[in-house]
Amino acid sequence: MPKNFDHHHLLLSQFSLLLLNLLLSSSAAPPPIGICYGRVANNLPPPTTAVDILKANNITNVRLFNADPATLSAFSCTGINVMIGVPNEILPNLSTASAAVEWLQSNIFASIPSNQVRYIAVGNEVFLKDPFYTPHVVPAIFSLHQALQTLNLSDSIKLSSPQAASVLSNSYPPSSASFDPDLKSVLFPLLQFLRDTGSPLMVNLYPYFSYLNNRPYVSVDYALFRDPNPVRDGGLVYDNLFDASVDAFVNALEREGFGGVGVVVSETGWPKSGGEAASVENALAYNKEVVRRAAEGVGTPKNAGAGVEVYLFDLFDENQKGGDEFERHFGIFGPDGLKAYDLNFNK
Ligand SMILES: *[C@@H]1O[C@H](CO)[C@@H](O)[C@H](O)[C@H]1NC(C)=O
Ligand SMILES: *[C@@H]1O[C@H](CO)[C@@H](O)[C@H](O)[C@H]1NC(C)=O
Ligand SMILES: *[C@@H]1O[C@H](CO)[C@@H](O)[C@H](O)[C@H]1NC(C)=O
Repeated sequence: MPKNFDHHHLLLSQFSLLLLNLLLSSSAAPPPIGICYGRVANNLPPPTTAVDILKANNITNVRLFNADPATLSAFSCTGINVMIGVPNEILPNLSTASAAVEWLQSNIFASIPSNQVRYIAVGNEVFLKDPFYTPHVVPAIFSLHQALQTLNLSDSIKLSSPQAASVLSNSYPPSSASFDPDLKSVLFPLLQFLRDTGSPLMVNLYPYFSYLNNRPYVSVDYALFRDPNPVRDGGLVYDNLFDASVDAFVNALEREGFGGVGVVVSETGWPKSGGEAASVENALAYNKEVVRRAAEGVGTPKNAGAGVEVYLFDLFDENQKGGDEFERHFGIFGPDGLKAYDLNFNK
């Protein structure tokens, strides 16, 4: 075989690879922006108002924290995709596939068509915030997976279990990030499931909390995407905490052999009041940049161009939430349905 044939062949295949990459990258739409619809409040408008707000703002994805039938019915046949939470206290009830089929049928699919369900989020921040339910997370996820297989929905509906960012014991610099060794025995079976089923790791990321808890090492400008002094990490440059946090997870996953698992930010936001650096101005600055990056598919330094799928927190203030005052002031809309600040969701 002539030498230059090989050479040509190589060039050709490189060229077609380049073409393929171009085609793939131009056809891959950035992931849609989603919003969390928490309902721990006594002053909320009806779910139909939430639907109207999402439609008026072209928001096509919503995260619900439970399977409330009236809420699911309001979203039914609206074209809006839902992530539905299985509350922590229900996890023990889902220990068998038959219980899971029954639960899915009567709590979810009785109220909303299965093709609107994008994710089922099994528990929320269980390992760190609600450890009583820790032993039930992976069994429930396995039961639900078997149930979805039985219903022929396991390809279209992905299961995951949102984690607090603090499941990383080290996140700085991002390339050194690692999971908390104390959580490995409960976290790794979950990560294995996610890898085996092509499902993402969901993380609730709040640069606001990192700023609050790590002053003065984390500046408000770094948390708000406007730090003039970026952080260098090997060959990568981080000018904001959001990217650094997402890439910390990407690196921690790779370190443990779960490199193929994607990261979805299942909550992120900034409070309007009730705490240090909590203001309408900062909430707008933060969310605006998160939306712009998602809409433009900016991605992170480690995965440039691959936009991060994000759920903003929160649609409304939740006036019955416990904890610090700022916890009750994340709402982007008022109970009257009007924007609390001028956030545009398409850019
Ligand atoms: C929603 O999308 C439609 C069509 O794509 C567009 O005309 C409209 O301006 C958008 N609405 C908002 C609030 O951006
Ligand atoms: C979960 O199971 C317990 C014990 O069997 C039962 O009392 C409870 O009503 C169940 N909860 C739900 C939400 O199904
Ligand atoms: C299962 O769902 C797929 C689409 O996801 C469909 O093509 C197939 O026909 C379904 N199979 C059965 C047995 O319903």
